[in-house]
Amino acid sequence: MWAGYTPGMSSWPFRVGFGEDAHRLEAGRRLVLGGVDVPHAALGAVAHSDGDAVLHVVADALLSGLALGDIGGYFPDTAEQWRGMDSRVIVERALALVRERGWVPVNVAVVVTLDRPKLGPLRAEIARSVAALLSLPPGDVGVSFKTSEGLAPLHVQTRATVLLARLLARVEAAPGVGGE
Ligand code: C5P
Ligand code: MG
Repeated sequence: MWAGYTPGMSSWPFRVGFGEDAHRLEAGRRLVLGGVDVPHAALGAVAHSDGDAVLHVVADALLSGLALGDIGGYFPDTAEQWRGMDSRVIVERALALVRERGWVPVNVAVVVTLDRPKLGPLRAEIARSVAALLSLPPGDVGVSFKTSEGLAPLHVQTRATVLLARLLARVEAAPGVGGE
């Protein structure tokens, strides 16, 4: 049997996680994506938390990769204590759950569907911000933007996939075998 075998899961050292989210947009609200405040956004996300639809899908992708449920199970949107919360806390929690089980994210791909404003100028900043949260180099976080072609001008929709790899158990060298 492999070290790190988890009952109920196959023993492959790779897993894929996927997440999807949507928020309604309204005037007079913040639009935060991947921990970055989008400047001059006419519309922002209606949400119980800060409404960061990028961080929500990243967290859900991390959890789904290991079949750990979804963020609603850890941060119910009915709980008063999570009102207006910084969604970075959600990702940190999901990442901790993954790491506790001996897994790490390898790379992340995020798609944001939003008609306005254009987000291209924020791509590098969003990638850096998400990467920092996951302790990944920015080049391991791909961020794509799409419009809804006018079909959903009052929504922001997000999707993310993440590849998870299982850390191999560290084996100490026996005395006198290739050691110092
Ligand atoms: O949705 P569509 O394919 O027409 O988007 C064209 C391009 O506009 C995208 O490939 C993306 O680079 C950019 N875009 C953006 N910000 C958005 C939506 C799209 O920068 N909010
Ligand atoms: Mg959300």
